Amino acid sequence: MQNWRRRSLLLFVVGLCGAVGQAADDEQVAAGKQLFLREWKANDPLSPNGDGLGPMHNDTSCVACHKMGGIGGAGPIDKNVDVLALKPPETSSEAAQLNRNVASLHAGFFGPSGLQSNIILHRLSTEPRYSALRSIFLGEDIVSLWDDPRKYLVAMRDSPVNEHLVNGVRFQHVQRNSSAMFGNGLLDRVKAATMRGIAKEQQRVGRVSGRPAPLGQRLDRVGRFGWRGQTKSLRDFVTGACAAELGLHSRADSQLTDPFDPAPRSDRFHDLDEAQVQALVAFCASLPAPIQVIPADPVEAAEVKRGEQLFSQVMCGECHRRNIGPAKNAYTDLLLHDMGQQMSDPVGPELPASFYQSIPAEILTKRPSRVSYYGRSITFRTTVIDNAKARARIQRAT
Ligand code: HEC
Ligand code: HEC
Repeated sequence: MQNWRRRSLLLFVVGLCGAVGQAADDEQVAAGKQLFLREWKANDPLSPNGDGLGPMHNDTSCVACHKMGGIGGAGPIDKNVDVLALKPPETSSEAAQLNRNVASLHAGFFGPSGLQSNIILHRLSTEPRYSALRSIFLGEDIVSLWDDPRKYLVAMRDSPVNEHLVNGVRFQHVQRNSSAMFGNGLLDRVKAATMRGIAKEQQRVGRVSGRPAPLGQRLDRVGRFGWRGQTKSLRDFVTGACAAELGLHSRADSQLTDPFDPAPRSDRFHDLDEAQVQALVAFCASLPAPIQVIPADPVEAAEVKRGEQLFSQVMCGECHRRNIGPAKNAYTDLLLHDMGQQMSDPVGPELPASFYQSIPAEILTKRPSRVSYYGRSITFRTTVIDNAKARARIQRAT
């Protein structure tokens, strides 16, 4: 692409940036906001029936990770979440070793339904012995890079899937960048039939081939949230985030296994009650969708217009669809797309490993210096250019 074309495209995408203040701040939303901003503690007084924060957690508040461009925004790379996947054994002796050793390494790999193929490798625990265990999995190299996000970014850019051999078991370490939630209340209401309709249309036109994220065996259920579209509804994502990121157990989702105390907790103890869960969901759903802002300067406005044309000419809009169901200016199709080998990693629904959800506009627009997915692109500009290059590679290959 020529330089001026890149510039127009960039200005168009950046030009979409903007926020609407939504007046409806009812009591529930306000209570949810307090929970979202709250710095949780172990044995927090807000969890009279539970143990509050942790034991396993990645941070101490929702807003610690979701803060760029405003409360509920995306997260910087140093808040990326670490995921460990078990590498399938190649030989029978590796398989035997895996079964023997994996449980003793981290009890989280054994869930109620048996061996889990991947787990979150938490950043923190209320148990002081945990940090030594964590560094065994990541290796000293990564842990020492952690203090310098730029160096870390460069390392992950070269090699986003890192393999580690621990006690004869092969792990793959990957990361997830925290997504923005702006407009998620509208995306939550997109019907499965709408998503299937878009997938069919894409199949007919034959330029891109998205598919709804499958959720287990139930064909009537499709995923809408998460990089891999792994979660059906906003409520499910919120209860999952409470449990996984902060160790806040609710009736819907259990906090994740503490490797130092793996016995499951009694179901009678909840860190969050139903009213707290509902408030948090109401707050997340209330975060306004972005709107397009056309610059006042006529030269820049014309540039945005040209970018908009390029956006559809070079097929960005095939995946980043402007409107989907009730979500206007969403710039997503909520479908999974094959992003190629470079983006492939072992964690996700039962699909080839390189399928990713085309992310919504809030992510495209809300964050001028956002980094993509693992944190590959350093600025918003490089994200757009990386993406255009990746698209060109895929088009050449097909
Ligand atoms: C340690 C960082 C971290 C913390 C703390 C955190 N999140 Fe997240 N959040 C993430 C990451 C990473 C993702 C993307 C996960 C994925 O797609 O696999 C995410 C995604 C989400 C999404 C889905 C967005 C989308 O459009 O797909 C919601 C909703 C969400 N988080 C809510 C919360 C809530 C509520 C809390 C507090 C209880 C919270 N998060 C705390 C890191 C965090
Ligand atoms: C085949 C579908 C598809 C097409 C076509 C496509 N994208 Fe994307 N795009 C995605 C997916 C999936 C992601 C999320 C995974 C990732 O980060 O790469 C994404 C991510 C992005 C991001 C990352 C934003 C962030 O915050 O991480 C930007 C910016 C972007 N696309 C812009 C573009 C532009 C500009 C074009 C046209 C040149 C384009 N996309 C074409 C599917 C597509």
